Amino acid sequence: MTTSSAPEIVPIRLGDRSYEIVISSGQLANIGDLVRGWCAGRGISLGGRRTALVVTDEHVVEPHGQRVNEALAQAGWICDLVVLPAGEGTKCQGQAGLLWDRLIALQADRNALVVAVGGGVIGDLAGFAAATYARGVPFVQVPTTLLSQVDSSVGGKVGINHPRAKNMIGAFHQPLGVCIDTDLLTTLPDREYRAGLAEVVKYGVILDAGFFERLEAQIAGLRDRDATVLREVVAHSCRLKASVTEQDEFERTGIRAALNYGHTFAHAFEALVGYGELLHGEAVSIGMVCASRLAERLGRIDAEVTRRQIALLDALHLPTRVPASPQLDNPRILDKMRLDKKTVGGSLRFVLPSRLGAVELVAGVPPELVAAVLDDSR
Ligand SMILES: NC(=O)c1ccc[n+]([C@@H]2O[C@H](COP(=O)([O-])OP(=O)(O)OC[C@H]3O[C@@H](n4cnc5c(N)ncnc54)[C@H](O)[C@@H]3O)[C@@H](O)[C@H]2O)c1
Ligand SMILES: [Zn+2]
Repeated sequence: MTTSSAPEIVPIRLGDRSYEIVISSGQLANIGDLVRGWCAGRGISLGGRRTALVVTDEHVVEPHGQRVNEALAQAGWICDLVVLPAGEGTKCQGQAGLLWDRLIALQADRNALVVAVGGGVIGDLAGFAAATYARGVPFVQVPTTLLSQVDSSVGGKVGINHPRAKNMIGAFHQPLGVCIDTDLLTTLPDREYRAGLAEVVKYGVILDAGFFERLEAQIAGLRDRDATVLREVVAHSCRLKASVTEQDEFERTGIRAALNYGHTFAHAFEALVGYGELLHGEAVSIGMVCASRLAERLGRIDAEVTRRQIALLDALHLPTRVPASPQLDNPRILDKMRLDKKTVGGSLRFVLPSRLGAVELVAGVPPELVAAVLDDSR
């Protein structure tokens, strides 16, 4: 559904790397003017020969990738549109190399734009190419999945996978701006859409009980992808992630670790069943329930906090139980968790709620307790 209300603007304040996220419904056609304004604000030349590499994937190119390409061409950029295969496998060294090749062929200079039109895979990969080409060129994000609109396009983390380690090769490279049009979500498959909602619920649990309550009250609108509800929910999620990023841009103080609520469990589930079997957001949904139960067992919260999360996730048709897979036995899950980035010296660490809207990093969690929680969650 297209509405013409004024866009919401979420500023990200990071000194000379500050930028804005513009959230609208149905205003993608204005992206040429938007990007011109961002360039002017940063002193990026709008005269002479201007180039842009527009990166998208095979599911997104029609119509979204093409529309962005045409709008930028109309606004005076010499554009090259690159259409990559969809899926996590594209976030690799080979595809990053292909983008560098295309930038060279385009004779891109330091003012050239790299524009990502796609989900987190395209955003992370194109952002990595932008971070590395000519030691960093301006980067614009046009996220097209709910997950990328509320999470991966905010915060400046870009990168690719190593064959043996996900997201291991990367950089912090803040974009010039992020252009979110919630209407792009109308073509997103249901399962991908729901997976994005898990990260939205996460923001409520870790940072904002009032937001969690609004989600509880807006279940129908969320399920129906109502444009007004989506604009509000996407904008507020961006605001919350922006506040965390502003406090801990380079993941040094531990504040940004709060965003990993449910993720220690989720990463283990995803790695064991194989990426793609369980979508990231689905794994996060189950992981949050496990983490919340763990907090209960440690006496940090009462059962009501877990019950409300399960009720909301269920209502949004997200999974809340550990799937019955032979890969997902307790010893294997615990082994994977010990390999997670958040473990130190083999001791298990988790981001756990202390109430709805607040979390803490808790170290030294006994493995028996984790196993018990997994058993409760099957
Ligand atoms: N940089 C960060 O801070 C950060 C944060 C979270 C996740 N990530 C990364 O994001 C990636 C996952 O992102 P994702 O969930 O967006 O996955 P994705 O980019 O693979 O997109 C999911 C699927 O939806 C399709 N699609 C995208 N937009 C569409 C649309 N509007 N209509 C129809 N189909 C569409 C894609 O082609 C793909 O098949 C992972 O690689 C993850 O590591 C990064
Ligand atoms: Zn996540």
